[in-house]
Amino acid sequence: MTRRGVSTELIHRGEERPPQAESVNVPIYETTTFLFESAEEVRLYQEGRAEKYLYSRYANPTVVVTEQKLAALDAAEAALVFASGMAAASTILLGLPNPGDELLCSSALYGGTFHLINDIVRRFGVAVRFATLEELREPERLIGDRTRVCWVESPINPTLRCVDVRRVAAACRSRGVISVVDNTFASPVNQRPLELGVDLAMQSATKYLNGHSDVTAGVVSGSAVLVKRLDLTRRYLGGVLDPLAAYNLARGLKTLPVRMARHNESALAVARFLEGHAAVGRVYYPGLPSHPDHEIARSQMSGFGGMVCFEVHGGLEGASRVFDRLGLIRRATSLGSVDSLASLPVLTSHWNYSREEMERAGVTPGMVRLSVGLEDTADLVADLDQALAA
Ligand SMILES: Cc1ncc(COP(=O)(O)O)c(C=O)c1O
Repeated sequence: MTRRGVSTELIHRGEERPPQAESVNVPIYETTTFLFESAEEVRLYQEGRAEKYLYSRYANPTVVVTEQKLAALDAAEAALVFASGMAAASTILLGLPNPGDELLCSSALYGGTFHLINDIVRRFGVAVRFATLEELREPERLIGDRTRVCWVESPINPTLRCVDVRRVAAACRSRGVISVVDNTFASPVNQRPLELGVDLAMQSATKYLNGHSDVTAGVVSGSAVLVKRLDLTRRYLGGVLDPLAAYNLARGLKTLPVRMARHNESALAVARFLEGHAAVGRVYYPGLPSHPDHEIARSQMSGFGGMVCFEVHGGLEGASRVFDRLGLIRRATSLGSVDSLASLPVLTSHWNYSREEMERAGVTPGMVRLSVGLEDTADLVADLDQALAA
């Protein structure tokens, strides 16, 4: 059968209805539990011989439809949704390694994942090895006999530096290490980690996938075997997504490819404008030839996303002045929404980092991070222009 396009799958996958109730949209099964006719039916369910739902922490029909769409999006055999990106991350990082195993990860990571690994995963007897981006250029040298899982993020917040995902995936595969990519900043429209050879793709669905700043969710996709293992871990860690949130996430997914095309186009225009502005120092956008990882980004991404970071003169004071003058662009953390948001990394994602840690992450006090939304590009550029006049 010819494979349908991702946009078609996101709209039609999982939308079949029983003939007596053919609603266009998937019903929201807002129930925690499901009815059984008899003890015999319960027994058949437990033996895996009856296709039934038992309890919404295990599975729920509305949630399953969202998972089917997400699996199609990543070209994966299966996907699981979670109550947040961090619930997805903790299910992977607590569910896969055993005590005595080593977790290899990039030293530049989303702060929540960094704390999860350092403050919680380590307590379960898992050794952790943090590798710099330079070290990750030769991933074969970082894998030891005890390495079980490798976790990287690409592009990385806020510098948008990229890891060569194909290379890391190949090194892991040759040594039997499970590779995971946090694909939140790219979105699967722009970068499909499983097609680059990675075992598991993880995302905060709070960002581009839902896209409207009104659902907190996470997703993991991969082979049916690995996803089944994580499904059991999710049952007991309990980070499941509510059916109403799953419905809203599925609704957001239907417009994801259209939204991403606009995010990509507008962010590139904003990055080019900033690069030509006298009050701006460095601009970080993987779609600009001046970005240190532009070639890696071009080799593994089909679009460069909506995140742009730039430096203004005068350190935090200068960045704060520009930030405070923004009008249309709103001052809020998070990303990937229809509305453009700005944040100052030293006051948010990198708050409380030591000078050395900031240097290692490539973060400077004069940085302003933008999540370029779907407003008219000319209005966004005009807002930045008037703010930079400060
Ligand atoms: C790259 C990345 N990964 C994971 C997360 C965690 O996602 P959530 O906030 O949905 O738990 C975030 C949140 O900002 C993120 O930026």
